[in-house]
Amino acid sequence: MKIFNFLFSVFIFSSVIFHANAHNVTHDSRSIIIDGNHRIILSGSIHYPRSTAQMWPDLIRKAKEGGLDAVKTYVFWNAHEPVRRQYDFSGNLDLVRFLKTIRDEGLYAILRIGPYACAEWNYGGFPMWLHNMPGVSFRTKNDVFMNEMKNFTSLIVDMVKRERLFASQGGHIILAQIENEYGNVMKPYGEDGKSYINWCAQMADSLDIGVPWIMCQQAGAPKPMLETCNGWYCDQYKPKDPNTPKMWTENWTGWFKSWGSADPLRTAEDLAYSVARFFQKGGTLQNYYMYHGGTNFGRTSGGPYMTTTYDYNAPLDEYGNLNQPKWGHLKQLHDVLHSIEYTLTHGDVETQKIDNSVTATIYQTNDKPSCFLSNTNTTTDATVNFGGINYFIPAWSISILPDCREEAYNTAKVYAQTWMMVKKSNKAEDEPSCLKWAWRPELIESASVQGKGDVSVNKIVDQKDMANDASDYLWYMTSVELTKDDLMLNGTVTLRVADTGHVLHAFVNGKYIGSQWAKYGNHVAYVFEKSIKLLPGKNLISLLSVTVGFKNYEAMFDLVGAGIASPVELVLKNAGNETIVKDLSSNKWAYKTGLDGISNKYFDPSKSSPKWVSDQVPINRNFTWYKTTFKAPLGNKPVVVDLLGLGKGMAWVNGHSLGRYWPSYIADKQLCKTKACDYRGRYMLRNTIVG
Ligand code: GAL
Repeated sequence: MKIFNFLFSVFIFSSVIFHANAHNVTHDSRSIIIDGNHRIILSGSIHYPRSTAQMWPDLIRKAKEGGLDAVKTYVFWNAHEPVRRQYDFSGNLDLVRFLKTIRDEGLYAILRIGPYACAEWNYGGFPMWLHNMPGVSFRTKNDVFMNEMKNFTSLIVDMVKRERLFASQGGHIILAQIENEYGNVMKPYGEDGKSYINWCAQMADSLDIGVPWIMCQQAGAPKPMLETCNGWYCDQYKPKDPNTPKMWTENWTGWFKSWGSADPLRTAEDLAYSVARFFQKGGTLQNYYMYHGGTNFGRTSGGPYMTTTYDYNAPLDEYGNLNQPKWGHLKQLHDVLHSIEYTLTHGDVETQKIDNSVTATIYQTNDKPSCFLSNTNTTTDATVNFGGINYFIPAWSISILPDCREEAYNTAKVYAQTWMMVKKSNKAEDEPSCLKWAWRPELIESASVQGKGDVSVNKIVDQKDMANDASDYLWYMTSVELTKDDLMLNGTVTLRVADTGHVLHAFVNGKYIGSQWAKYGNHVAYVFEKSIKLLPGKNLISLLSVTVGFKNYEAMFDLVGAGIASPVELVLKNAGNETIVKDLSSNKWAYKTGLDGISNKYFDPSKSSPKWVSDQVPINRNFTWYKTTFKAPLGNKPVVVDLLGLGKGMAWVNGHSLGRYWPSYIADKQLCKTKACDYRGRYMLRNTIVG
């Protein structure tokens, strides 16, 4: 394990003070109106549990220095209510502290309560206990679900109200969100879906927060909810109600990553183009999703197969460093947009076609005009004459002329600093270059050799139902009795296991026989098949299923299977080529959740144990625990643990789970590694990396 330390620049800011008086937040078709001031809002998503509380002030300061007006966050229900009616708002889950940090840096906040999030977060933010409540149906007209959703939403609203953080109370929260992207998936829920979304609107409205509620991707959202757009581009978007301002609550600054897929990259030029084009076409509020993506610590990544990193190629990288030139190029754009805010929110608008690919949009007040010149052609640069002056507008770019004469910004002309991050070994504490490791085996004998479980049922049970998301690991164990004359003893028997696509390790009579998982980010169900040797008498089949995050998106995603699926079979092809199949699916199956080392907290530094061995540390050995100690690097910047060289597993530092690692599962191809990415053209057409 190598430890790296990063150095950052320091910024100094002056803060806006939020006064204790109530602030009136309303809107017209062109602006968000705060205390009578017509505003365009530039915002960025930072999800507080994806960083540490120590990092928050620095991240938010960098967001402010980057020219943002607001920070937006989700509230993840399963993180805050891991067990029904037992809440956790401690440490990195301290929502109020995060919101106050935003306030203290002088920014507005946008609170996405959801509580359905999506966000590549485990199970989209829903707690697994909710799935296991009798009679529940998610995201539809269902009393069990609606009661729980209302309970959590009210809890968050009350908590925020107690601290007087809504603008209506003198605070800085200017908008809140209920549900998310329901419009994309609503159809299969039929009439009950319509009732549900109307109920969401009424329930939210009844909580009386005094600032507008929004619904993302909900065309014609029930009043008084305001609909918003998401995507890589939202310039073409028009809210159904002409009195709703055009708001873009998720401008994807890159994309998420799943195990086995390439690092997503979205160029600074294309991202800036999408923002400038949005404001050229009458946009009011634009939020970067993500401004800082961060890390899916512990078991919080969704999926299946979402990685532990949630870097997202965002303007601030996973560790909070400026991702240049993206951060700087956007900062310049924000400054220019703010400088013409009054004209954008009050001016008359006129468009003029200058040539085949270039269009001018002129915003005009009595005071002054401001102009956008856009070239939407994906290959041809243009030089155009506008108002007697020649302008060079590269393909797929937009120039902003705050006075309609001088070009203050062009989305494809990047002047921001570019830098490269260099990794250096930490020398400060005089650490040896090789750390000293100890190891011990995971005890798998009781499951794989004895088949001892906690619960037994005569069927294969979905992992969500059995393990209740208490662990990634669930043992499925059964036995097969063979008499001496059983045909299965003479011939090649195959163990055939249907799996929903997560990871499977199989054992027969205590002997490891193989593993399988879905390939390269395309998470699909598979069938595991392996020849095995059976013995007369009792044979034990033990299957260790390892989930890699639960599904977080699509209609009824909550019902998508996890773990081992039926059937599990023994298949014999005998000499006459006749196939005999023993279906074990309705056998008696014993289940055991978790691993011995996790239940007994091998990762807890306060638990000393003589069982760790320091010599002959094995490599290429399955089911093995390794540990080491290191001196914390000097300074107070984030420390990164590089696990390259390991296979798949989980890592802890000082008892805190960093998350899953799987560096052995790398992408076939990396994007834009040999030559720079071409920024021209719609992002999706150039990159086929969507997981
Ligand atoms: C959106 C969703 C976000 C996130 C994003 C992809 O559709 O609202 O929560 O999942 O996709 O990163």
